[in-house]
Amino acid sequence: MLNERFAGFCTNVGSALPTRRAGGGTSGIAGGVVIRRQTVKNANVVINWIAGAALVAIAVVGGLIGGGAESNEKAIADADGNLHVPKGYRSSYQMLGSWAVAADQGQGSKEIHAVYASPGVIDSYLKTGRFPEGAVLVKEVFEAATEQMTTGAVSRAGTLKGWFIMLKDSSNRNPANKLWGDGWGWSWFEANNPAKTTSTDYKTDCQSCHAPAQATDWVYVEGYPPLKR
Ligand code: HEC
Repeated sequence: MLNERFAGFCTNVGSALPTRRAGGGTSGIAGGVVIRRQTVKNANVVINWIAGAALVAIAVVGGLIGGGAESNEKAIADADGNLHVPKGYRSSYQMLGSWAVAADQGQGSKEIHAVYASPGVIDSYLKTGRFPEGAVLVKEVFEAATEQMTTGAVSRAGTLKGWFIMLKDSSNRNPANKLWGDGWGWSWFEANNPAKTTSTDYKTDCQSCHAPAQATDWVYVEGYPPLKR
């Protein structure tokens, strides 16, 4: 049985569809947009480079301190296996991909989901075809905002509703914790409390919805371009 919290995801959004149209703009303005885009692009290249360098630094330090996977696990699970949303994942994790859940009516999406993996997971998966021990997956769930932009009807991430977290654990080392099993620790966190889950049992809160992805270790890998060889 899926609890109502998740069912609610499908019903309580999508009310505010576009009422506003972006102005067409003259060609002069359009020219300005292009120039600005290029500037932004260049800045992004620099930022990406810096982020890349930072990741390498983190990986090196993590390796020296004693095992990247283990330090991932310690960072998000306590001794009893209670998970929390990893701090700083938006800068230290790698983007896997995103999902747009279509609006029940009208154009656009009602939810945007963005999925991140802890450092090293992508490389490891590409080598072995499996998620390494300690791998952490974070799925952000946003209420979508949809409006007319110069590219058309566009949905983007609006208000954050919360996070789904999965932590890879083949050894099933928390048998007493009902949020661990089938090779993962599983939890949902409301946006206002990233430290404490509201999930109680992964078998009822998560598993049946992930059954279609059982053959790929319960993960919907088809949505994640970086995992494709
Ligand atoms: C209503 C069905 C449903 C429920 C309930 C559900 N999931 Fe998912 N989950 C999905 C689907 C479908 C995807 C991929 C597509 C998407 O995000 O819309 C996904 C994606 C994810 C992802 C991104 C990695 C992946 O598997 O692709 C994580 C992490 C995740 N879910 C964790 C959880 C956890 C933890 C729970 C329980 C606390 C849970 N989910 C409950 C359907 C569900």
